[in-house]
Amino acid sequence: MRLSINGKTHDVDVDPSTPLLWVIREQVGLTGTKYGCGIAQCGACTVHVDGAPVRACSLPASAAVGKKITTIEGLADGGTLHKVQKAWVEHEVPQCGYCQAGMIMAVAALLKEKPRPTDADINASITNICRCGTFQQVREAIHAAAKA
Ligand code: FES
Ligand code: FES
Repeated sequence: MRLSINGKTHDVDVDPSTPLLWVIREQVGLTGTKYGCGIAQCGACTVHVDGAPVRACSLPASAAVGKKITTIEGLADGGTLHKVQKAWVEHEVPQCGYCQAGMIMAVAALLKEKPRPTDADINASITNICRCGTFQQVREAIHAAAKA
């Protein structure tokens, strides 16, 4: 099947039911997107499909054919970091970092939908799990990115 990832076309030979996450990581070699739970609970695997946040561990790759997939590797605009990435650096959000690619992708999608999210919006949309407990820094960085 043919997939468009970060603006490039990739022809991959996989079973159509293969989760998109494994195609991104193992066929295409983009390992920024992480595997956490595998059951759409933790958000570590979040990517954008046609701009919407999707948990790639639970989406068959065939469902993304003909759509624009963006991973953490494609979020920056060339050498310019996305405003969420900049806020993450400025607020020193990550601890171990494992959940953070998915967290950033979820936040980038939220800010596109709601440029000035309230704490309630954040609570409703950012359900990603961080075992390091960075939630307070995440919230501060979201508000900073919203003002950027
Ligand atoms: S690995 Fe996909 S939601 Fe946890
Ligand atoms: S920074 Fe370690 S799991 Fe979130």
